[in-house]
Amino acid sequence: MAKFEPILLKNRGVVNSTALKVYESRGGYQALRKALKMTPETITEEVKKANLRGRGGAGFPAGVKWGFLPKDRTRTLLCVNGDESEPPTFCNRVLMENDPHQLIEGTIISAFATQAQVAYIYLRVEFHEVFHIVQKAIDEAYAAGILGKNILGSDYSLDCYIHRGAGAYVCGEETGLIESIEGKRGQPRIKPPFPAIEGLFRLPTVVNNVETLSCVPHIIERGGDWFSSIGPEHSTGPKLFSISGPVKNPGCYEAAMDITMRDLLEREDMGGGMLPGKKLKGVLPGGISMGVLTADELDMKMDFADPAKYGLLGLGTAAAVVFDESTDIRAVLRNVARFYASESCGQCTQCREGTAWMNKMATRIESGAGRNEDLDILLETARNMGMMPGLSICGLPDGATFPIETIVKKYRGELEAAIAAQSAEAAEQILQTMN
Ligand SMILES: Cc1cc2nc3c(=O)[nH]c(=O)nc-3n(C[C@H](O)[C@H](O)[C@H](O)COP(=O)(O)O)c2cc1C
Ligand code: SF4
Repeated sequence: MAKFEPILLKNRGVVNSTALKVYESRGGYQALRKALKMTPETITEEVKKANLRGRGGAGFPAGVKWGFLPKDRTRTLLCVNGDESEPPTFCNRVLMENDPHQLIEGTIISAFATQAQVAYIYLRVEFHEVFHIVQKAIDEAYAAGILGKNILGSDYSLDCYIHRGAGAYVCGEETGLIESIEGKRGQPRIKPPFPAIEGLFRLPTVVNNVETLSCVPHIIERGGDWFSSIGPEHSTGPKLFSISGPVKNPGCYEAAMDITMRDLLEREDMGGGMLPGKKLKGVLPGGISMGVLTADELDMKMDFADPAKYGLLGLGTAAAVVFDESTDIRAVLRNVARFYASESCGQCTQCREGTAWMNKMATRIESGAGRNEDLDILLETARNMGMMPGLSICGLPDGATFPIETIVKKYRGELEAAIAAQSAEAAEQILQTMN
């Protein structure tokens, strides 16, 4: 496969890439100048033509989402989702650390297209450096007339603020994020109404991911047709993928979405293969919430359609975490279960209790006191707690169940063998301490 000419990461590695002067010297803010001469409708049409699908996890088409805003609205807000709290996921961070002006340019163009007056960039609290980098870029943009009143001499004005979260995964969910910006406890809202109708401060609101918005200047500069010509149908444009775990080159890479998990893992200019002496056992290819691939399933395309064929929820955050043969699959199961049990906000009974039960069973299995029926109960619980059966306010439990269900199904033999190898006496003692 030919090397991909970086688009989103083209400024990574350039000296002082976060500075306005450097960004402009490399063509930055030309797309904004062009966009300000277009109408909001033609920008939205171009984004629709590009078939830009959201990079935050769900893959919803950005232009279509913008089209849901009420036509008669007088105020609009834009939220930039930079929460990125899912374990192994860090491509948004790479984008903001290396090229904050690309994000700001995408934010302004998208705000103009949706006629937003204010944009909020929501960052997870742990992003200390990112916060300073993006804030400095915002300050530079204000000083240069790129943000604020009459942007670049046009009639359009936009204010842009950073809002820092307090460290909850569920605040990445768009309505949890909105509640958090409003200063409330970060808990998702029941939908409808969707944010486009009633969002932040009850005003029509668009929420888009950092990577989604970083694509927008390139669509305006080079056209929707150019963007949609990259990658497979329905999975168009440049995409960032990350890989971590015992591989030679963990990191963030850019490619079209016809790339396979095998390419991402093995290509010399990407993951570079496993570390010497390490043999691949499996990979969670889309953050931890999409499900697991075994070592025999690496030919999955990292696009929006192929993951379902492997029993996965979707492409998710496209952040792959690899584990090797020395990893006990019970530990992977437990790790995932523990994360979701501690991140459920607790509003919905099925999610609150379901994630807690799954964690309890996974802990028991890992500790050496598992029972075969636990595996069936895990599967049954997984089928009865998410948005898919309509039992929860947000998608957190779906993200919890797909990895657990696929781990149990795909590694059942190994889990049963571990349970069979337990000493009954030791298991009894462990159970006593757990109850
Ligand atoms: C539990 C949970 C956590 C989420 N975390 C994030 C996140 O950190 N960043 C993000 O962009 N989207 C996250 N999402 C998806 C958002 O709700 C929303 O779909 C997304 O921000 C929309 O942007 P996009 O259309 O550009 O992808 C999360 C969803 C759920 C259910
Ligand atoms: S599904 Fe879970 S995380 Fe989402 S709102 Fe309900 S309890 Fe909270």
